[in-house]
Amino acid sequence: MNHPSWYQRAQARAERLMAQGHATILAIESSCDETAAAVVRDGREVRASVISSQIPLHARFGGVVPEIASRAHVENIAAVVDQALLEAGIALPDVDAIAVTAGPGLVGALLVGVAYAKALAFAADLPLVAVNHIEGHVSANYVAHPELTPPFVCLVASGGHSHIVRVDDYGVYTLLGQTMDDAAGEAFDKAARVLGLPYPGGPLLDALSHEGRPDALALPRVRTEGRYDFSFSGLKTALVNAVHTLRQRGEEVPAADIAASFQEAVVAQLAEKAMLAARETHASTLTLAGGVASNSGLRERLEQACARAGMRFFVPPTVLCTDNAAMIGSAAFYRLMRGEIADLSLNAQPSLRLW
Ligand code: KG4
Ligand code: ZN
Repeated sequence: MNHPSWYQRAQARAERLMAQGHATILAIESSCDETAAAVVRDGREVRASVISSQIPLHARFGGVVPEIASRAHVENIAAVVDQALLEAGIALPDVDAIAVTAGPGLVGALLVGVAYAKALAFAADLPLVAVNHIEGHVSANYVAHPELTPPFVCLVASGGHSHIVRVDDYGVYTLLGQTMDDAAGEAFDKAARVLGLPYPGGPLLDALSHEGRPDALALPRVRTEGRYDFSFSGLKTALVNAVHTLRQRGEEVPAADIAASFQEAVVAQLAEKAMLAARETHASTLTLAGGVASNSGLRERLEQACARAGMRFFVPPTVLCTDNAAMIGSAAFYRLMRGEIADLSLNAQPSLRLW
């Protein structure tokens, strides 16, 4: 008789975990410029979350350099995973499954996490769960808010993505709207760069905006064909032109006023479309996620709009908004409970889709 293969044993283990309804998951995230690992219990309870940021490595280039990101992941991943297990007070045999971000993201960066997770799962004889990075961001709210359950509408705004998603159930997503050009975080970073702020400029522009007037600079009103779609490139071009004109005239660039006006325009658009989508799909709950969910103006605007509309509003603490592995461990739990496990043919998928 043949011995069962690693995959057959993983399937049998996954079935036992599904029957129990419990799992401790070691999750790995390496899709962009943070190497992260976390231990998450039952999709909600974070036992450990370690994030090694590469920001200092990329800042002098003004953005993420993919090759540098891949190398730094290779250098850091073993120590980050070991640290997560140490902080959780467990060893690999205590883990029930390994989870990893398979995409979307930078292919070389993703490959490091995927290869490491496959090796761990094979060596420790554990099921492997592949997670979509955007699904991870959505799931950050499960970690932060135990009372949150689907259905709800989520605005996911990060450095690489801007989507309005309807979460019909765990793992069931409908795309309602998305950006037609730049992601919101990308627009923040580009605007910040024009104002002379270092990478990633989003949080710095946010801080600077508190010292300026949001009505100081007139920015164009944005129109998109899709009701719930966004566009940020026109705002960015208008800002670049305004700054260049001031510099050519030798006039002072009122950076705080420009930051405040830009932030207002981006926040207004994100909030307006998210509220429209939530109202028109009769959602009773709106959630916010992704790196840009750290933005103070956006958090405040949506909180107020939801209160006025009688909708519940959830947003994670900022450490769960930017890239982390706790959110991946949460998303992985619900996949595992549906029996969705990966085999060793799993590869990095830079354009992985969620719908
Ligand atoms: O989710 P994330 O860590 O990575 C991606 O998946 O892209 O998002 C990073 C993005 C960066 O563009 C960063 O500038 C932006 O989130 N960001 C902010 C703020 N904090 C982070 N943008 C505006 N205001 C903030 N406070
Ligand atoms: Zn992200």
